[in-house]
Amino acid sequence: MLGFLRSTILSKIVMTVSGAAIVGFLIAHLTGNLLIFGGPEKINAYGQGLRDLGLLLLFLRIGLVVTFVLHIVTSIYLADKNRTARPVSYTKKKSIQSTIASRTMFFSGLTILTFVVYHLLHFTYGIVQPEFYHGEYILHDGRTVPDIYSMMIHGFQNPFIVITYLLAVTFVCLHLSHAIGSAFQTLGINHTKYNGIIKKAGMGLATILWLGYMSIPFGIMAGVLKLTNGGH
Ligand code: HEM
Repeated sequence: MLGFLRSTILSKIVMTVSGAAIVGFLIAHLTGNLLIFGGPEKINAYGQGLRDLGLLLLFLRIGLVVTFVLHIVTSIYLADKNRTARPVSYTKKKSIQSTIASRTMFFSGLTILTFVVYHLLHFTYGIVQPEFYHGEYILHDGRTVPDIYSMMIHGFQNPFIVITYLLAVTFVCLHLSHAIGSAFQTLGINHTKYNGIIKKAGMGLATILWLGYMSIPFGIMAGVLKLTNGGH
């Protein structure tokens, strides 16, 4: 009994720590992506800066993959434990606490995983839209680097791609808005005095991330972000 309890607590800690690391990645990724509003020089220099990290970037990528895998495997383990602990499911499924986000955690998680694979095939490996992947840009310091700027502009000129990202980013933010409350419960911070604030903070962060991520495709569709002169 104690062993089960301990491993369940350990799993919840792994869920929380890996989830927090993913939130950290989402904030860092958004901050980098928003450089697109500074023009092609800024975002392309940033992309090159990441590539220049070399071995460190490789370790960061491995760390990110391990974090995602831990988060997913542990969620499956915990869902399974919950089922075995309660073989007869509740007849009344909708509790007062239940929200769309909480009821769709597994589904939104699965959708996010599918999106991440699609997203890597799109922007990291250039398989989704290969015609926009091989552009080059000459930085002010004379170095020729991959043109992430024009790749994103071309990519989001396609409304189907925009809809895909809109759905995916919405799922990410729904998932996150619920996850933050759960994480604090796991850490033992579950008091009526704080629950309201924690819930609002979770919703606030999810909303900021949603607006930040979607500002790029929306900015491109609205023509605020466009290809610069010189064909870059
Ligand atoms: C509109 C929203 C987004 C845009 C414009 C965007 C843009 C990009 C770009 C351009 C890259 C490739 C960078 C490069 O290889 O030089 C990338 C990589 C990546 N993105 Fe996003 N992204 C968005 C949303 C997301 C979301 C919501 C997630 C996670 C759920 C995510 C996860 C990743 C991951 C894991 C990588 C690979 C990082 C690496 O290994 O270098 N992205 N993204």
